[in-house]
Amino acid sequence: MARDASILGIESSCDETAAAVVRNGRTILSSVVASQIDLHRKYGGVVPELASREHLRKIVPVVREALAGAGMALADVDAVAVTNGPGLIGALLVGVTYAKALSQAGAKPLIAVNHLEGHVRAVILEALGEGREPELPAVCLIVSGGHTVLYSVRAAAEGATEAVPFQYARLGQTRDDAAGEAYDKVAKMLALGYPGGPVIDQLALHGDPAAIRFGEPKMKGNPYDFSFSGIKTAVLYHLRKHPELEPEIRRRRDALGEKRLRAQELLPLCGRHTLNLVASFQRAVVSDLVSRTLASAEQWASRSVLVSGGVAANRELRETFESESARRGIKVFFPSRALSTDNAAMIAAAAYPRLLAGELTGEELNAEAVLPLA
Ligand code: KG4
Ligand code: ZN
Repeated sequence: MARDASILGIESSCDETAAAVVRNGRTILSSVVASQIDLHRKYGGVVPELASREHLRKIVPVVREALAGAGMALADVDAVAVTNGPGLIGALLVGVTYAKALSQAGAKPLIAVNHLEGHVRAVILEALGEGREPELPAVCLIVSGGHTVLYSVRAAAEGATEAVPFQYARLGQTRDDAAGEAYDKVAKMLALGYPGGPVIDQLALHGDPAAIRFGEPKMKGNPYDFSFSGIKTAVLYHLRKHPELEPEIRRRRDALGEKRLRAQELLPLCGRHTLNLVASFQRAVVSDLVSRTLASAEQWASRSVLVSGGVAANRELRETFESESARRGIKVFFPSRALSTDNAAMIAAAAYPRLLAGELTGEELNAEAVLPLA
């Protein structure tokens, strides 16, 4: 039986300030996420300087709230875990510096966690919470606004999934934009607001996904690499070829201002052509993500597919993965919305096997903007 331990996790790699307490790598005692989305909306993307400043404002109250939510004081946790990369350097430094201070003040072990490993553990955490155990080896697709990367995941030792360290190998990654970035950029071109993913996801339901054909990205080399800048450019060219869509885009831009409009509010402002365009865009992105991921799972004889990151919330992505993986006899696992986007429960969960293995860090810990998982 693995050691009983409650870990305080801290995450500040991008635009979410988050803290959580997780017991034994599988039970979430508290999870607090302060999103900065409203702050960055008017810029149509995350502004690094603003993000760091907001993390500085939020980190203390967010950690306090997470401890209070777990009914604990710093003295009661067994370790402090923090994301040390990859991400925005100034944003990461806020979490890393604060975690170091807490670890020193409370004489608690400090554990550094790679943000990407956090996303992998988020899926495991959710599945275990539902009494489902993803069989390893697995293939994990991490797909968000910052990442689109495919890893093989295997257990490095015998033992309970939440307690054993994992070994990773990178099977493929995007050569240009992340999938979520493509959603956000297309939403910007069409004046659908920020972030673009959730709105496009909803609007796509009202369009014909076969109306506009976007060719598959043609790439030499690794068949498990992704590319999304081509489809983004294809949408741009489509708009140039159809200037009749301009007045509609202007109308939406005026209605939006710096606000956020829900899909139901945007729907009456979108004509059939636009709805077909977003549905076709989404179909192209989803087909590409699903086909490359499942092909890699088959090639590496994986028993499970794990899908994580903000884009994992996508309705069509989930449905397509469910149906396509069932056909191939592979099980697919998604986290809930709360665990698919950036959070600190996944960081605390990822730290548990490291604590058990004695993989600690200390005063020397630094933030790393670029930090490959494998
Ligand atoms: O993981 P996340 O919260 O932050 C990082 O990028 O690390 O992911 C945010 C990204 C944004 O690009 C957003 O547009 C996208 O995830 N997203 C979605 C959906 N919900 C969020 N993309 C497609 N469909 C969705 N339902
Ligand atoms: Zn993330």
